[in-house]
Amino acid sequence: MEPLYVLTDAERDELTAVLEGVAKHPYEDYAAFSRAVADVVDRGEVPAFFREVCERVRHDRETGAGEAHVLRNCPLDHEIPVLDLDDPVADKHAKKNTFVAETFLELFGQLVGTPLLSYATRFNGDFFTDVIAINRYSGMQTGFSDSELVYHNDRTAHPVRADFISLLGMRCPEGDYIYTGFVSGRGLLAHLSAEEQETLRQPYFFTPYDVLSRDNNGDLTDSGAHPILENEHSFRYLDTSTTVVPGAPEKAKDALLSLKNALVKADKQRHRLLKGDLFTFANQDGLHSRDKMEINDPERARQRWLLKTYAFRDQAAADRHRDRWIDGVQGRVGD
Ligand SMILES: [Fe+2]
Repeated sequence: MEPLYVLTDAERDELTAVLEGVAKHPYEDYAAFSRAVADVVDRGEVPAFFREVCERVRHDRETGAGEAHVLRNCPLDHEIPVLDLDDPVADKHAKKNTFVAETFLELFGQLVGTPLLSYATRFNGDFFTDVIAINRYSGMQTGFSDSELVYHNDRTAHPVRADFISLLGMRCPEGDYIYTGFVSGRGLLAHLSAEEQETLRQPYFFTPYDVLSRDNNGDLTDSGAHPILENEHSFRYLDTSTTVVPGAPEKAKDALLSLKNALVKADKQRHRLLKGDLFTFANQDGLHSRDKMEINDPERARQRWLLKTYAFRDQAAADRHRDRWIDGVQGRVGD
């Protein structure tokens, strides 16, 4: 994908200096960290170019002009540690002592008006998580493996789901070609008849929880019955996994087949994240995938590391889940 904006090195350095001024710890006290970033905004320290870029992203999302955006040459920490893939999260916490990347993602979330979301039962409830190949998930259908991923939304089975996902390229091996695919909900609708859409709006479907969720909370089995199509063009769907509930009418299976055909036919955007790329896209108003197009060095490819955030559409969407906040931290929900 063509970036919406490429920061010049001078712009990147100017923004990095602002981000480095935030002294709070994003993992130890997220609420204080988030407030410190808000203070930077309130003091007018954010360079004008970046406020304008974020305004363009917000405008595109509001008008439907675009649901997937790339910013290139974004601020990153000077030192990016190589993580031990047996337990990369613990290793990150041990080795990463600067938080430029986290502060950048938080600032982006605030300027675009999308409060962040985290799950208390995964990765210590961290708001900044890692898309990286964890050894024990090798070959499995989870973002935390080195596998390809079929079209899906993140946390499809979960009752609270992010509206947007942002991925920041921390380590992206140049000789391997791993692409993130994105298909918009609007694009899928164009290939579904009115009757098929109506059937997909009924709770004839369910989605089993993914392996990581079941590992973190053994009580989780599946989503319960849910519609696939919600709102105007939100899809709740994990390809090859979401299926019809027992006893669902024949037309439910037919509509599911039509959706699978729509997924093949619809136009897609594909992006290969480079180091310093921010790729931000709709999680519910679209589906995404991971395609390993050309892996020339599997061991090197496994070192790919993206820093990731989940976000609500806006403050009102976050507020609707207010009664779920764990320990009073806005955005942190249980399972
Ligand atoms: Fe995903």
